[in-house]
Amino acid sequence: MDTQQTRILQDLDAAHHLHPFNDNAALAQKGTRILTKGEGCYVWDAEGNKLLDAFAGLWCVNVGYGRSELGEAASKQMTQLAYYNSFFQCTTEPTIRLAAKLAELTPGDLNHAFFVNSGSEANDTILRLVRHFWAVQDQPEKNIFIGRHNGYHGTTMAGASLGGMKGMHKQGGLPIPDIAHIEPPFWFYDGGDLSEDEYGLVAARRLEDKILELGPERVAAFIGEPIMGAIGVYIPPRTYWPEIERICRKYDVLLVADEVICGFGRTGEWFGSEHFGFMPDVMTIAKGITSGYIPLGAAMFNDRVAGVLKAQGGELAHGATYSGHPVCAAVALENIRILQEEHIVETAKTQIAPYLAQRWAELGEHRLVGQARIAGLMGALELVPHKGQRTTFDERGTVGALCRDHALRHGLILRATYDSMLLSPPLVITRAQVDELFEKAWAALEDTAEAIGV
Ligand SMILES: Cc1ncc(COP(=O)(O)O)c(C=O)c1O
Repeated sequence: MDTQQTRILQDLDAAHHLHPFNDNAALAQKGTRILTKGEGCYVWDAEGNKLLDAFAGLWCVNVGYGRSELGEAASKQMTQLAYYNSFFQCTTEPTIRLAAKLAELTPGDLNHAFFVNSGSEANDTILRLVRHFWAVQDQPEKNIFIGRHNGYHGTTMAGASLGGMKGMHKQGGLPIPDIAHIEPPFWFYDGGDLSEDEYGLVAARRLEDKILELGPERVAAFIGEPIMGAIGVYIPPRTYWPEIERICRKYDVLLVADEVICGFGRTGEWFGSEHFGFMPDVMTIAKGITSGYIPLGAAMFNDRVAGVLKAQGGELAHGATYSGHPVCAAVALENIRILQEEHIVETAKTQIAPYLAQRWAELGEHRLVGQARIAGLMGALELVPHKGQRTTFDERGTVGALCRDHALRHGLILRATYDSMLLSPPLVITRAQVDELFEKAWAALEDTAEAIGV
């Protein structure tokens, strides 16, 4: 695309397109980056820059860009039957097959899928259906959800309320009632003198304190991302999730894993809950289910919850026009086929993750980096003002944004949350591409350090 055409598109974009999670006035001044092509782990922008996408779009392009089979699966289904719904005692073949496939793939007895279009809607769904689950068992007051400050569960009214992002709560009158939050497990800044394992237990017991404060008879569920993504890839200590699970069981509080990022191989296991060894009652999924090629989300319920909803729930007054859309389901099935037949998750775990961890640790030696954390193919570099000390920059986020921009200049997409540089490449990244990532990230760190005089 030539410069003039790019400029025209940027002007149209500024005039007519409100961007999510952007300061739209600032963006209009700067001009948006227009992406035009993707292949494997790379994307190209309208100016012809080739970028190594170490963020897999938005944590989602697990099989990499340019897999024509996914387009073919969509095209075939569109030609055969472009749409039918799952209301009114109907559904379609791909929708049924996907529900069965998910029952097989997800751990334990998460055997029942409710389809939606996104991770946010999946979290809306679980809020309503879990409250309904308790209500039909004569416990309508058991309706409080506990999430975590700085957790991210999407942007719908329920999703953003379950999440604990203060900036989001400020817009639109959130959180909605009967949602509580506890502090997240982030040893680096919060752990003090405790070992990580000791801290994991302390952080988990905040849930028990909150349940006792609210009264177990009021608490419907706890929701958490196995690894907190958007806030900065907070990887909890190994002790955290088993203790959370123990507490949930003790007080009969349902355990909801938001696997929108962690699901479909991101941690090296199919699901993040398997990585940490706990068993959710309810799970939300999206993103990697189609590798981002088409929108789809789902809530998975275990036999207990689905059993009650089926036997006592009556008509479920919930759903969307596109719940179980056959084209999205066909793409998801093809995406899962690719992940399975090409052993992408296993290869990522056994061949790539150890090498990536090694190179990531090398980045951790840079003078700007206080911690290099990683689990599977998901990690963060914590930029700090004083190496060796677990303290933040006075003005949080400036250095991270600078580093992100330097990375882009070097042809690398890393995301920054405050001063955490986030990593989540396509699962098909090769060792050679890991080396390229390392070189570019190191160069970006060097430029950033020089710019701030470190
Ligand atoms: C953990 C988690 N849950 C839910 C969501 C919301 O998903 P969506 O953007 O598809 O609505 C996200 C999005 O990044 C997420 O990271």
